[in-house]
Amino acid sequence: MKVKPEIPNNNLPPLPPEREAIETKVILRQVSKAAVALAELKGMALTLPNQNILINAIVLKEAKASSEIENIVTTQDSLYQALTVKAYKPDLATKEVLRYREALFAGADFIRKKDFLSVNGIIQIQNILEENDAGLRNMPGTVLKNSSGKVVYTPPDDKVVIEKLMANFEQYLNNTETDDVSLLIKLAVLHFQFESIHPFYDGNGRTGRIINVLFLMLKGLLDNPILYLSGFIIRNKGEYYRLLEDVNFYGKWEPWILYILNGIEETALETITQIKNINGLMLDTIKKVKEEAPLVYSKEFIELLFEHPYSKIEHLEFKGIAKRKTAGKYLAELARIGILDSHKIGKEIIYINKKLYDLLKN
Ligand SMILES: Nc1ncnc2c1ncn2[C@@H]1O[C@H](COP(=O)(O)OP(=O)(O)OP(=O)(O)O)[C@@H](O)[C@H]1O
Ligand SMILES: [Mg+2]
Repeated sequence: MKVKPEIPNNNLPPLPPEREAIETKVILRQVSKAAVALAELKGMALTLPNQNILINAIVLKEAKASSEIENIVTTQDSLYQALTVKAYKPDLATKEVLRYREALFAGADFIRKKDFLSVNGIIQIQNILEENDAGLRNMPGTVLKNSSGKVVYTPPDDKVVIEKLMANFEQYLNNTETDDVSLLIKLAVLHFQFESIHPFYDGNGRTGRIINVLFLMLKGLLDNPILYLSGFIIRNKGEYYRLLEDVNFYGKWEPWILYILNGIEETALETITQIKNINGLMLDTIKKVKEEAPLVYSKEFIELLFEHPYSKIEHLEFKGIAKRKTAGKYLAELARIGILDSHKIGKEIIYINKKLYDLLKN
């Protein structure tokens, strides 16, 4: 039966699709390119002395990018302030972005502990994101509309169908026997399926994008959650929606899979550049501090300024780098030589690693 935009897609086929449809020659060629870039990223991440530097920086950027698909606009500054300044009262948009970050960390923890991604785990992720425990949809009425209000797709509305499709999704995602298809193809297939089941009332896009990176971790393609397609999807949003529709209505897998593979390659290369830039900036910073403020130099101190682009005295105390008074002097000294910018916010002074902040903003 033909899939129609206004009719609930209760016949959405379970996974996997026919092998010939998802493993074409063109796809396989692009798989190799994406896989090479991803493997390089995995290795490159290890060149950073402290993985938290990258994770903190990239996760926040992703949280912001992903939330902007939903048109929640917030500034990088308000995010950092919300994370650093005690008295800061974040607005709703900022809170929402921070929840994305929290959901992502919870998901990554889940994978590290269980080595499995269950439907329940996915429900927990969405629960953190949306701050509600509605769980899987069990009432009809969810439709996807385009920006002019036209219905473009109606996901399954039968509770039993949704549950079955989710169980099948979990099985395909975790089952290693089906990993003889390239894992990156599998990721593209899974992302399509998740969005088409559309298991929740809201947050399906964001939950699906979190699942993508968790899948890469689960399968050992990354050690940490550092590859995000949200930036790529925002830049190519129209195409993203259109290609999802093409799979649903016409079974056209190839362009969809190529789109995701291109996204993985492009994003991995971008992230590699970003790591190189962070590494370069860190070396420059070390050099400058050693030359101009040698008494306060320590490796841990510099790393801290990269782990927290907005830092404060407590951070140094917490890491055991210095006691309160000395910590204050250390930070002031780096402000003096122009590495940090100090700002008084309420009762607190925060110190911004200017160059890092600018680098991460782009
Ligand atoms: N035609 C379609 N077929 C399947 N899925 C679609 C289609 N159009 C959009 N989607 C998916 O629906 C998501 C939006 O669903 P929902 O509003 O539940 O998620 P969100 O996280 O709140 O929003 P967003 O993804 O915009 O941030 C899109 O990100 C996309 O992945
Ligand atoms: Mg939404």
